[in-house]
Amino acid sequence: MNVEREKQLAAMDAATLVQDGMRVGLGTGSTVAYLLSALARRDVKAVYVATSPETEARARSLGVATQPFDTLNQLDLAIDGADQVSSDGWLIKGGGGAHTREKVVAASATRFVVIVDSTKLVAELRAPVPLELMAFGLASTLSRIEPTVLRDAPASPDGGVIADFFGDVQEYAALAKRLSQTPGVIEHGLFSPEMVSEVIVGSGDGVRHLVKGGSK
Ligand code: A5P
Repeated sequence: MNVEREKQLAAMDAATLVQDGMRVGLGTGSTVAYLLSALARRDVKAVYVATSPETEARARSLGVATQPFDTLNQLDLAIDGADQVSSDGWLIKGGGGAHTREKVVAASATRFVVIVDSTKLVAELRAPVPLELMAFGLASTLSRIEPTVLRDAPASPDGGVIADFFGDVQEYAALAKRLSQTPGVIEHGLFSPEMVSEVIVGSGDGVRHLVKGGSK
């Protein structure tokens, strides 16, 4: 299995979804890097927003212009990678610390498409779950979500502290609710299946499309 090739195949497949006039959210990470290259090769006139300064810079270097995500109220499509995809459609994202903006963009999109290599498919999600925390009250917040470890990473573009929750993750929905309800937690990296329209998996020499209700 060639993981990089699988990422590229998934990304190239997703790039064909972008059509003239669409408003498109661009995720973050190494799989999205292949997406940006594929989009740069296509002559498609879409409006793009980026989920991170890294994606914005990479897109610009490839000649793909992005806009600030402030006045657009909806996107037609968002495409992003994931760290884990469970068999029941939950995601863990935020390996790159960009999950807060990624979740805002995904939630704004009519269609949210996830692109992964086949190593990202797991029977059950496992720790850690990435977090973005407020610096204000950090020690107090950490005491309510133990065990959580601060990541040796820069602050997010919005000033948040990036950390990882290493506790029990078996009950995804309950954990997502608990983290969302913890004051000081800006966002967590659990994405529910309701957010996800489709997962495109690079698989060997091709792709598989995982959609609600089965593969196609
Ligand atoms: C960024 O914060 C993450 O959510 C990425 O989308 C995720 O880590 C997948 O990244 P790769 O495509 O590099 O595996």
